[in-house]
Amino acid sequence: MKKIIITLDGYSSCGKSTLAKQMAAHLNYVFIDSGAMYRAITLYFIRHRIDVTNSDAVIEALTHIHLVFKLNEQTGRADMYLNNENVEEEIRGLEVSNNVSQVAALEPVRIFSVAQQQLMGTQKGIVMDGRDIGTAVFPGAELKIFVTASPEVRVERRYQELVAKDPAITKAEIQANLEMRDHIDSTREFSPLKQAHDALVLDNSNLTRDEQLDLALSWAQERIANA
Ligand code: CDP
Repeated sequence: MKKIIITLDGYSSCGKSTLAKQMAAHLNYVFIDSGAMYRAITLYFIRHRIDVTNSDAVIEALTHIHLVFKLNEQTGRADMYLNNENVEEEIRGLEVSNNVSQVAALEPVRIFSVAQQQLMGTQKGIVMDGRDIGTAVFPGAELKIFVTASPEVRVERRYQELVAKDPAITKAEIQANLEMRDHIDSTREFSPLKQAHDALVLDNSNLTRDEQLDLALSWAQERIANA
């Protein structure tokens, strides 16, 4: 059976990663969370106080960043390693979330990340989620899905995800963060978030996880059969 490339793009917290992970497991494909790479780069920039307005400093900092996904045997998911350190937990917090879109908008950061993402797709058989995967990283992907959900649903989902780790977190903080990131991500100059012209739209506001998975897998099976 031929393997294909599947891309999932969309706004923050609309359930892309959950769906991408489930699809990859069902198809026996590799799941790649491109957002984790931007988050890890952002963590490095925060720790080393990199001035994002200084492009020489940004380019120099990128030469010290080595990113790898490694399978976590306990959770069965791939954790993000920044220079050999497992940063999976730390990159999900609000400090990184509040800075990541500014970092991800920088041209050298995009060139650095997209080149690595494209290498991961050379064997096909991958499901990658992000903002520009169907438009800039794999414009020739066989299946492109643009995931959407209502803003209320997105805030609620992210709140439920984060409150377990940080009981002090508020929905207002999360809402402000999602609005800020969506705005920066969709208005930036280099590969902004937008729906690819040949993407299929999946609005999951009123779908259960199983329902959205069934729908997405039916699309995937059809594209695989025609590949
Ligand atoms: O999980 P969530 O939807 O909140 O975000 P994410 O996928 O972890 O991505 C974090 C941030 O990285 C986004 O808000 C974008 O600024 C950036 N990003 C990007 O620019 N391009 C991608 N392909 C993936 C993420």
